[in-house]
Amino acid sequence: MTEDVSQALIMHLPQHVGKAVCVRGWLRNKRSGKNIHFLILRDGTGEVQCVASGDSLPAETMQLCDALGIESSLEVVGIVREDARSPGGYEVALSEVKPLQVVNDFPISKKEHGVEFLMEHRHLWLRSRRQVAILRIRDELEKAWADFFYERGFARVDAPIFTPAACEGTTTLFDVDYHGDTAYLTQSGQLYNEATIFALGRVYCFGPTFRAEKSKTRRHLLEFWMLEMEAAFFEQEDNLRLQEELLVFSIARVLQKCGRELATLQRDTDKLVNIAAPFPRLHYRDAVEQINRQMPDRAEPFRYGDDFGAPEETFISQQFEQPVFVTNFPVGTKAFYMKPDPDEPDTVLAADLLAPEGYGEIVGGSQREDDLDALEKRVGEHGLPREAFQWYFDLRRYGSVPHSGFGLGLERTLAWLCGLSHIREAIPFPRMLHHLYP
Ligand code: 4AD
Ligand code: MG
Repeated sequence: MTEDVSQALIMHLPQHVGKAVCVRGWLRNKRSGKNIHFLILRDGTGEVQCVASGDSLPAETMQLCDALGIESSLEVVGIVREDARSPGGYEVALSEVKPLQVVNDFPISKKEHGVEFLMEHRHLWLRSRRQVAILRIRDELEKAWADFFYERGFARVDAPIFTPAACEGTTTLFDVDYHGDTAYLTQSGQLYNEATIFALGRVYCFGPTFRAEKSKTRRHLLEFWMLEMEAAFFEQEDNLRLQEELLVFSIARVLQKCGRELATLQRDTDKLVNIAAPFPRLHYRDAVEQINRQMPDRAEPFRYGDDFGAPEETFISQQFEQPVFVTNFPVGTKAFYMKPDPDEPDTVLAADLLAPEGYGEIVGGSQREDDLDALEKRVGEHGLPREAFQWYFDLRRYGSVPHSGFGLGLERTLAWLCGLSHIREAIPFPRMLHHLYP
């Protein structure tokens, strides 16, 4: 290609108006007229219309352009100019076109494909405008979370993936042969966070977590990413406030930085703009009462003491425009590590945060049992192996303090912010019941 022409990312083209640049990418789309081709090129940072005109290009270059199908890879040179008629406001008037690979049979076309076909071609589907927009928002959310915790004195401490015992109940464990021993893929980094707060005060971990759920709903993955924070000298009320603050912060950031992506997704952003703290709170007892009184099409009454399933969460969250905290679950409904509420000792100091618009639970959090005897008793009641938890009991032996934390699911949050109808689009390569390829 012509020398002394600078390489440019499409996102940076506005800085090169009037100058010649070289752009490399893939053909998103092509429109052709008499003696002219409009090549829509994308490079991951943006899209730009490149104009190949027979008036200024040799016939063989025009023939090259003729042969290019969707997703051909190419390198082009041309002058950047401002043009209000062009999508994005800029275009490139081409002087050179160099195909790297000509493609004419990309499997995904503009016609409607079934979900099954798209899922099998997830590695190619990801190139679509919609999937790119979702991945950009995912990236922004991850950055926002890192910024939020960094600014508030939290250290990121990564938790292990192989674990010797259950954290969130024994029914959803994936086991692995650990050279003759059994290990499990982590369900949560929480117990490790509870150790590292004694070193660093306030911590969070962020990584993949695994649940061997047999559920096939719009909101369950077998592998999902969870942000989990934990802080010493932190009580239930502090915990709920921090969740509110984090969500309001995250929404503001996504609205500020991802306007274009939200527009691509046709997200109704009014619903997000109106999210404001404090979020409403609903006592578990009252939630059960509402379900039994108002939820349509129930075959049998919901039993006090059961945990909510997807239909109940959807019903509850639809009663509110804001995210809602469900509080005071009965002891025994939830995990072993939660501390009973001193004012209502048959319930725990825990809350689930349900997103609006029927998206269900996005956060689970609680104040932790910090008393050794009470904790040992709970581990026994839950039928968990005490030996495996000796290290965890040590945390209540050596300088125990009140502490709390929560886990925020990335894909569920992203599905809500993007307005997705299914969680499978919120992660690049979803792992679901009967789905492991590609
Ligand atoms: O409520 P969960 O199970 O809480 C915990 O794991 C705690 N140890 C967190 C903590 O206190 N450190 O999960 C927390 C969140 C849920 O609210 C949801 O957003 C997400 O993780 N989540 C899932 N996301 C997708 N697919 C699944 N199967 C999920 N299970 C939980
Ligand atoms: Mg939960």
